[in-house]
Amino acid sequence: MRMYDIIMKKRNGGELTGEEIRFFIEGYTNGKIPDYQVSALMMAIFFQKMTEQETYELTMAMTESGDMLDLTAIKGCKVDKHSTGGVGDKTSLALTPMVAACGIPVAKMSGRGLGHTGGTIDKLESFEGFNIALTTEQFIENVNTIGIAIMGQTADLAPADKKLYALRDVTATVDNMSLIASSIMSKKLAAGADAIVLDVKTGSGAFMKTEEDAFALAREMVQIGKNAGRKTIAVVSDMDQPLGRAVGNALEVKEAIDTLRGQGPEDFVELCLTLGAQMLIAGGCAKNTEEARDKLQAVIEDGSALHKLAEFVDAQGGDSKAVYDTSLLPQANIVEPIPSKEEGYVSKIACDEIGICSLILGGGRETKESEIDLSVGIVLEKKVGDYVKAGEPLAYIYANDRQKMEQAKERFLGAYTISAQKTEEQLFIKGIVE
Ligand code: URA
Repeated sequence: MRMYDIIMKKRNGGELTGEEIRFFIEGYTNGKIPDYQVSALMMAIFFQKMTEQETYELTMAMTESGDMLDLTAIKGCKVDKHSTGGVGDKTSLALTPMVAACGIPVAKMSGRGLGHTGGTIDKLESFEGFNIALTTEQFIENVNTIGIAIMGQTADLAPADKKLYALRDVTATVDNMSLIASSIMSKKLAAGADAIVLDVKTGSGAFMKTEEDAFALAREMVQIGKNAGRKTIAVVSDMDQPLGRAVGNALEVKEAIDTLRGQGPEDFVELCLTLGAQMLIAGGCAKNTEEARDKLQAVIEDGSALHKLAEFVDAQGGDSKAVYDTSLLPQANIVEPIPSKEEGYVSKIACDEIGICSLILGGGRETKESEIDLSVGIVLEKKVGDYVKAGEPLAYIYANDRQKMEQAKERFLGAYTISAQKTEEQLFIKGIVE
């Protein structure tokens, strides 16, 4: 078998066999097939697309390219959750302790920020001392004792995806449905959970810009999960404006804590309840959505979800005092309002641009080696549908560098569209694919 023939076949619109897909994934993972040939194949896939069968074969080849976690030592039905990536997406920080407090074991692998989107691992490091590099034994031990553990992706888990993702990132081949579906699902399948709940984002802050594409991606991932024998459900949710109000690592941690105290923003609470309900049902902890939502609300009201977060932070070496006193989280030196230049209704927010503002402030990585500033970001005062007077703050900006702050402010103002007419309210949860 030759890589050249595989590239040519796909370039001409052919369907690759499982054997051909495994050949290139194995060859690329062990360094026998060079980047330039795989880049050519990725571009051919981007234009010619992949069938459902090819996507499944690609997913399984990547899943099996490294270690597969064996979570059988954890009692109960393990439910994982994954978001396709968004702006202000701090969902795992609030949702996982809520679900764990309801009795579902959470054994989760999370990632760092990617492009304009943030990552759970970076956010968790806002707790001083927090350790994401657990051994598999510690990881399982923590889930068995306190019901929750989150670790960073190890080098041995789906290494083919790691290499391919880095390549796609620099060859303009990220936003292909089959490549995204196989990338996400290979990691989730290798991470060993019995059931997977996916949060598929749609809108200007998501990789899938249209609802049609987001639903297609959701169906594709659910199908892969089912073919692999895992219970898989996808919720399609809005990412046409940032989730909640906070964008930036420590600011998002604070918003997640506020949510566990019963003071979360409406859209964020709704997302946690919707995803959490699916997790509880998949894990056999609730018979229907109503019962599941009641249980999730109860663990917020009685404080057990907040305590679970503290227990989890503590178990992974972090300073859990910050859960009860958020002034102990990293704090920016400069906090300033961003006043609106116009009066009217906020009709649109270019969501990816808000993510980029946080990157400019230092909240994300410019290169793989960049250190991130956990304290910076933006807290929105006005979201789509809100009325704003000229001079009234659209948001507050948290910065440590005046020059970066001015640059981010400029970009922020360009991301907002203010109109005389109020736009129609959009559905936040677009649908569920089972
Ligand atoms: N997240 C992933 O893990 N992979 C993709 O391809 C896109 C988002």
